[in-house]
Amino acid sequence: MRILKIVVMALPLSLWGLVANAGGDAAAGKAAFEAGCGECHYEDDFSGESEADILAMIQSVKSGEVEHKGEAGGLSDADAANIAAFWASFK
Ligand code: HEC
Repeated sequence: MRILKIVVMALPLSLWGLVANAGGDAAAGKAAFEAGCGECHYEDDFSGESEADILAMIQSVKSGEVEHKGEAGGLSDADAANIAAFWASFK
């Protein structure tokens, strides 16, 4: 039932995104996650963390500030924000 949960969680997030025009796009983040991160990470790896905190962690991995096994340096800022929104949708 994971898929259903993703849809249910992502809908209010994307509606909120439309209204507030802030935060990443969780649906786009899911695609970016599956393309580049899913090999090593679970979708709920960062459950309980806020979107802002997750984004800050992704940025530090992206910049090389935090040592990281995976390839995250090539992520665009938009990808980073979208993956943060996706990860933050798992409570
Ligand atoms: C080859 C495996 C691998 C891939 C691919 C990978 N990761 Fe990771 N990632 C890890 C491991 C292992 C850790 C925990 C230890 C570490 O930091 O190396 C981690 C930790 C992290 C952390 C936490 C860093 C912190 O501050 O503690 C973030 C954020 C992260 N990964 C983001 C990503 C993103 C975004 C992607 C996709 C673009 C990605 N990772 C792809 C293996 C991977």
